[in-house]
Amino acid sequence: MTAPIEETLVLIKPDGVSRNLTGEILRRIEAKGYSLVDLRLVQADRDLLSAHYAEHEGKPFYEPLIGFMESGPIVAARIAGNRVIEGFRSLAGTTDPTTAAPGTIRGDLGRDWGLAVQQNLVHGSDSPESAARELALWFA
Ligand code: PPS
Repeated sequence: MTAPIEETLVLIKPDGVSRNLTGEILRRIEAKGYSLVDLRLVQADRDLLSAHYAEHEGKPFYEPLIGFMESGPIVAARIAGNRVIEGFRSLAGTTDPTTAAPGTIRGDLGRDWGLAVQQNLVHGSDSPESAARELALWFA
């Protein structure tokens, strides 16, 4: 029996949009064989962002992260493919662009402006449960 095709939420964060990297990031996703199912350009408000990042509330990076994500438009994408949740996170690379592996989105395109961990270009859901919850928030 083949596994059902998964869906995940990918966000191209304000640094990715403002640096005109949306096309390059979507190109990498499509080149890997994943399919674009839905796409939105969103100016996210605090209600949406606090729901999205609810698990991080109280952590030291929470307020800077919300402020950064409010700072400009975000591209939200519904992406489908075989094991896409794990696969996209591998394509994105580790959280910190400075140490993310070459060949990954963050490793190749991420810049260390002194706020490297915050401005890491993309977000991808980390589990099937997160993907379902996050897709419902961003594609209500
Ligand atoms: S944790 O605590 O291990 O779950 O955190 P982590 O997975 O590394 O990061 C969760 C999200 O928080 C962002 N982050 C930060 N933002 C701003 N400043 C700092 N210092 C910082 N550290 C982590 C990180 O980019 C993750 O964002 P998403 O959108 O989930 O990728």
